Amino acid sequence: MIINLFDLEKKFSLKIPKAIDGYYSSGARDEVTLKRNREIFNNYELLPKLLRDVSNISTSTELMGIGIDSPILLAPVAMQQMAHQDGELATAKAAKNFNTIMTHSTISNYGIQDVGPVHDKLFFQLYFSKDRDFTKELILKCKKNNYKAIVFTVDAPRLGTREADERNSFKMPSSLQLGNFIGTKFENFDDIEEYEGSSMAAHSDHLFDPSLTFDVISWIKEISGLPVLVKGILRPDDAQKAISFGADGIIISNHGGRQLDTAVPTLKQIEPIRNQVGKDATLIVDGGVRRGTDVLKCIALGADVVQIGRPLLWGLNYDGQKGVELVLDLLNKELIETMILTGCKDISEISRDLVIEK
Ligand SMILES: Cc1cc2nc3c(=O)[nH]c(=O)nc-3n(C[C@H](O)[C@H](O)[C@H](O)COP(=O)(O)O)c2cc1C
Repeated sequence: MIINLFDLEKKFSLKIPKAIDGYYSSGARDEVTLKRNREIFNNYELLPKLLRDVSNISTSTELMGIGIDSPILLAPVAMQQMAHQDGELATAKAAKNFNTIMTHSTISNYGIQDVGPVHDKLFFQLYFSKDRDFTKELILKCKKNNYKAIVFTVDAPRLGTREADERNSFKMPSSLQLGNFIGTKFENFDDIEEYEGSSMAAHSDHLFDPSLTFDVISWIKEISGLPVLVKGILRPDDAQKAISFGADGIIISNHGGRQLDTAVPTLKQIEPIRNQVGKDATLIVDGGVRRGTDVLKCIALGADVVQIGRPLLWGLNYDGQKGVELVLDLLNKELIETMILTGCKDISEISRDLVIEK
């Protein structure tokens, strides 16, 4: 019986091959941040408001002028065909049916040209390549395919070491390809020189540009003409700096505990970052969001919306597009329950005073 997201997680780890499960599920090094992302939610307790007529609840909201039916978005997650043959296409269709936003990863199996036509509320996650012309081409392709924003991931000047991937010598199956790299040596992992541990780490070493600085945000904005969200920020001063270089918003994220181990859990940074950037900047948070109460706490502390990473893979593996819809539906129903029990009719009523720190 599937009652919550954890039921899907259990099914997932029973079904998926070990090396792929390792890639999808694990975190960097000791996985301290991975665990803390979840534990931190229990450090914040709810203080419900009662007798407020909660007979009609709406979870609709708006993000950068885009109307969505739920404040739960789908985070960029690489190589989704390893979870289900329909991969990113299924995820985009689920986002469309649920009327929410999906962010499409650079390292996806289906490329911009395949996913773009599926949904009109897509963001594109950019890993900035050492080859600036290639990066420019990707950005222009997004514009042509009607993507609504660029999500610039900044917490990966190199890949954090996921020891599971080293032990399992993780490699994307040769039957798959990376849809945004067709015709380049990054099309699959076979053209990258033999590597003892994780092929993903070797792939990223070749691809990611560690020399980037804040001014590249203005460059992305100029080339794309689209809103730019900077993903992976954990410090209020970095958030402010990103905005001063033209970012339209910040995604508070530690990459689901996959980059710098022992980095601060994201929930803790929402309020300080909101206080720093002010009420008008777009603020998204991810990391360990699994319950309706988690969603409400993030919004109460200052996030506009949240996004989920691993749970979309659990849904995708369970039943393709329908499985991703199931994940969104379960979590949104929990959010509705939490809103009823805390006295919030709509997202704008989710206020800071609903949450106290233990
Ligand atoms: C398997 C996997 C692949 C990911 N791939 C990307 C990626 O390509 N680009 C990116 O910016 N973040 C990537 N992330 C990070 C997610 O966007 C998100 O920050 C994180 O998963 C949120 O935490 P959660 O999984 O606990 O919900 C990935 C995460 C996972 C689990």
